[in-house]
Amino acid sequence: MPTAGAGGSSAGSGNAGSGGNAGSGGNAGSAGAGDPIPGTCAPPSDIKAPYQKLSQTGCMSSTDPTQFAAKAIPYQVNSPLWSDSADKTRAMVIPAGQKIHIKNCAVPADNCTQGPADTGQWVFPVGTVMLKNFLFDNKLVETRLFVRHDAQTWVGYSYQWNEAQTEATIGPAEDPTDVMFNTGSRMVPWQYPSRTQCMKCHVDYGGSTLGPETRQMNREVNGKNQIDHLAELGMFDQVPAKPYAEAYVQPYPSEAGTPAASATLDQKARSYMHANCAFCHRPDGEFPQIDMRYETTLANMGVCNVVPLKGNQGVLDAVELKPGEPAKSIVYLRMNALQGAGRMPAIATKQIDTAGVKLISDWITSIKSCPTP
Ligand code: HEC
Ligand code: HEC
Repeated sequence: MPTAGAGGSSAGSGNAGSGGNAGSGGNAGSAGAGDPIPGTCAPPSDIKAPYQKLSQTGCMSSTDPTQFAAKAIPYQVNSPLWSDSADKTRAMVIPAGQKIHIKNCAVPADNCTQGPADTGQWVFPVGTVMLKNFLFDNKLVETRLFVRHDAQTWVGYSYQWNEAQTEATIGPAEDPTDVMFNTGSRMVPWQYPSRTQCMKCHVDYGGSTLGPETRQMNREVNGKNQIDHLAELGMFDQVPAKPYAEAYVQPYPSEAGTPAASATLDQKARSYMHANCAFCHRPDGEFPQIDMRYETTLANMGVCNVVPLKGNQGVLDAVELKPGEPAKSIVYLRMNALQGAGRMPAIATKQIDTAGVKLISDWITSIKSCPTP
């Protein structure tokens, strides 16, 4: 376990230079002898030597280490990743003068190798730092940084919060860490993913960043559409045309909101699978036989009455998805399984998402037969 003391000098030294990509000059501020110079919330100059302490990154407020720095732009998504019921807050830090590009798969230069379903993915410039906090009972358990070092390289860093909420410390590169986190009113089991695990989900073919897509970001926050807000800040190379692509519905009532009464079961289930599964289950993904992207029709998902390749979860005649029968559908069985027992996703989650499982169960129940492709 890392201790709460000052970061080792070897770990700190790699960060002393200003990130070449930050575009914001040198790291300001005077540091005590031996202390790493505080960052400006830019990718660390040495990928393998991130700041040991979150407070050193410059991504959090210098007066309140639990709040994002002023330069970070907060945002929300319509359909969040299930993270063992943790609440989340998110923000982006884009280097000065750089722009967000929104993919338009009708344009060859945008290089959508897997078809039009990837239209609307946001591409962030080199030097970007994406931030995500995980909270229980308003207490931070983890802050994740996902940073773009260069055209090819994104890296994730996980910071583990102390119970006093004064500091968070970098987690290990290779191994996930299990803890019981004390929120003050209860103990919550939590698993910090390893740096290697970040990249299992944050794959380049999935867009590297997984939340920001037009349909995820098309959302009112504090009485204002988030995309309008970012456009006013001049964050896009090309402002998306209005009306913006239709917002994903909320899959079920959560901190992201309650699904509109008009949302269909199919829309809710697809919104859930898109956000939670599709970055691995897509034609160029880790398990490409299944395509769970929102735009993919049931006939083309590769699930309906399809015999599983990786076992039957103990149910003899189970198929990936059996119309009307969730209990014989691997999609349902794997969502309802524990880590190590075929659970999907296999990493970064240990608690069953009961509302998500019910949604997918209801969706499978509602399907009468397999459509022909
Ligand atoms: C199980 C897959 C998975 C793993 C493992 C994972 N993430 Fe993510 N992450 C997601 C998804 C999906 C989103 C977007 C949805 C959301 O924000 O709720 C996301 C969002 C984020 C964001 C906000 C920017 C974005 O890409 O949308 C950051 C920052 C982030 N993750 C950092 C990390 C870091 C650092 C790690 C490793 C320590 C990590 N993540 C591990 C799936 C994962
Ligand atoms: C981090 C990548 C990743 C994520 C996220 C993910 N999966 Fe998977 N999925 C895999 C891999 C890899 C396999 C193959 C598993 C094995 O070898 O046992 C798999 C297997 C499956 C299978 C069985 C396929 C077969 O033919 O046996 C189903 C069904 C499935 N996943 C559904 C889901 C659902 C539903 C979600 C979202 C709730 C999800 N997955 C999220 C990577 C992922």
